[in-house]
Amino acid sequence: MIKDDVMKELYPFIFRRKSTRKYTGPVGEKELNMVSASLKELEPLLSSEVELKIVGRDDVRTGMQRPAPHYIAAFADGDEGKMNAGFMLQQMDLKLSSMGIGSCWQGIPSPGGHLKSELEFVIFLAFGEAGEPVHRSRSEFRRKPLSEITDITGMDDVLEAVRLAPSAVNNQPWYLKGGDGEIHVYCRIPGPIKRRLVGRWNPIDMGITLAHLQISLQHHGYRTGFRVLEDPMELKNFRYTGTFSYMEL
Ligand SMILES: Cc1cc2nc3c(=O)[nH]c(=O)nc-3n(C[C@H](O)[C@H](O)[C@H](O)COP(=O)(O)O)c2cc1C
Repeated sequence: MIKDDVMKELYPFIFRRKSTRKYTGPVGEKELNMVSASLKELEPLLSSEVELKIVGRDDVRTGMQRPAPHYIAAFADGDEGKMNAGFMLQQMDLKLSSMGIGSCWQGIPSPGGHLKSELEFVIFLAFGEAGEPVHRSRSEFRRKPLSEITDITGMDDVLEAVRLAPSAVNNQPWYLKGGDGEIHVYCRIPGPIKRRLVGRWNPIDMGITLAHLQISLQHHGYRTGFRVLEDPMELKNFRYTGTFSYMEL
């Protein structure tokens, strides 16, 4: 469970957040300290280790991407680690949005050779003083309709938060089944081209959307628990990710 006060603060920004790619400069020292303190408060989904470091633009090989003033570099091992990193850093993405700070997930840049960890590099979350609006209205989100990401009925309010989650190249690979106290989450198995293009980010996307699902379930008054079932129902063209159980408080 995410702490109630944190969840209340983050929930509204699910419906307002927007990736920022234009920055005017670094954030102030007070804000940077707040970001650093928030990193230590992020709730994990799973027990696998995730290391998060705030670094500067000189620590990052940005390639074709326009550089950002700051980055949070995430290190973790395997798909489980990636999913956990996605779950944790999405809380940070929403927190930055709530602070009026611009942010953007960035999978294309790579860490400079001196940025070391025992764990594998997974992803960056870029942030800084934004040179463009960091918020938008609900109608400005470009996303699949709810009917393409779930067949669960009667929970549209809860699941809208999942629908609006960000993903690599806006791929939205998730599908949800269940209802009646359990939501089973699946990830679309990419074809060969998509696998090469975005396959490595799928577990991060799943962690991101699970963060939105958990925050939304809590907001709607449910106590939640996450587990990976040993014998889940199979779904053609999808890989099972995990199951949230939920109960009214
Ligand atoms: C795992 C992941 C990797 C991403 N990598 C990049 C990237 O390298 N460069 C970039 O500009 N945006 C990147 N994005 C941002 C997505 O393009 C963006 O979240 C998506 O198009 C939805 O737009 P929104 O965040 O404004 O809602 C990435 C997002 C995710 C989740």
